Amino acid sequence: MNNRRRRIYEGKGKILYEGPEPGTLVQFFKDDTTAFNKKKHEIIDGKGVINNRISEFVFTHLNRIGIPTHFIRRLNMREQLIREVEMIPLEIVVRNVAAGELATRLGIEEGLVLPRSIIEFYYKSDALDDPMVSEEHITAFGWASPQELDDVMALAIRINDFLTGLFLGVGIQLVDFKIECGRLYEGDMMRIILADEISPDSCRLWDIETRERLDKDRFRKDLGGLIEAYQEVARRLGIINENEPIRGTGPVLVKTD
Ligand SMILES: Nc1ncnc2c1ncn2[C@@H]1O[C@H](COP(=O)(O)OP(=O)(O)OP(=O)(O)O)[C@@H](O)[C@H]1O
Ligand SMILES: [Mg+2]
Repeated sequence: MNNRRRRIYEGKGKILYEGPEPGTLVQFFKDDTTAFNKKKHEIIDGKGVINNRISEFVFTHLNRIGIPTHFIRRLNMREQLIREVEMIPLEIVVRNVAAGELATRLGIEEGLVLPRSIIEFYYKSDALDDPMVSEEHITAFGWASPQELDDVMALAIRINDFLTGLFLGVGIQLVDFKIECGRLYEGDMMRIILADEISPDSCRLWDIETRERLDKDRFRKDLGGLIEAYQEVARRLGIINENEPIRGTGPVLVKTD
C-alpha cells in the first residue's frame, strides 16, 4: 500500500507521503523515539499509534475553535490526511513552567511557575542542533517576515490558552510545548496555520497531584513507562477507553523500504 505513494520526506518521528489530492499529504506516525537531536534513539512499540490519536484530538478541537491547522482527518491507526504547507523553519516553544533547557541554561529551579508565558524560537537545523534564535535573526535572515512572526506568536498564545485549559481539566499541568507553523496559500491569500503534531512527544505534561511526567521526558531521563504515560494522557482526554488495546492487536501495517 505504501509503495504506491511517493514518499516526500522521512523525519525522525514521521513520514510524509504524497496525498490523494494536490495540496494534501499523508502524515505517518512512526514508533521511533529520539532525543538530543537523535543522539538517543529507540523504537517504542505503539507510540506512533497513540500520538496519531492524541494529535488528531488536539488538532480537531483547535480547528473547531477557529485556530487554523493542517489537519483534515485521520485515515487509520498511524496516518492522517493533512494540508501541505510551506514550512517556516522554526520550532516555536511556549513555556509556562520552568523545565528542560530553560531550567538548566538559566539556572532556574525546575517547576517554578513563570511570571508569564514565554515564547522562544529555535531555528530548525539538524546540522546546527536547532539553535535558539531571536526575532531579529528570524526577520533579518528572512525565515519569516515581521507580520508572519506576529501571526505565529498570536497562534502560539491561543494554542497555549486552549491546551492549558484542556489539560488542567484532566489534572495535567501544561509545562511547555513546541509547535511548527507553515504558510497556506489559498488563491492570492496566504495565512499562517499550525502544522506538524501536538502530542506528549512535543509537550511537557505533569500530573498535577503526583508531579509525574507524562511526556517524552520519560524517555530523555530514562524513567521508563513511556507508553503507559502516553496512554494515561489519552485515557484522561477520553480518546481511548480503559480496556482498549492500543498495540499488539489488529492488522499490522507493513513498512516498505
Ligand atoms: N503540513 C505540512 N506540510 C509540509 N510539511 C510538514 C507539514 N507538517 C509537518 N511538516 C514537516 O514534516 C516533517 C515531519 O517529520 P518529523 O517530525 O519526523 O521530522 P523530524 O525528523 O522531527 O525533523 P524536524 O526537526 O524537521 O521536525 C517535519 O520536517 C515538519 O516540519
Ligand atoms: Mg519533528
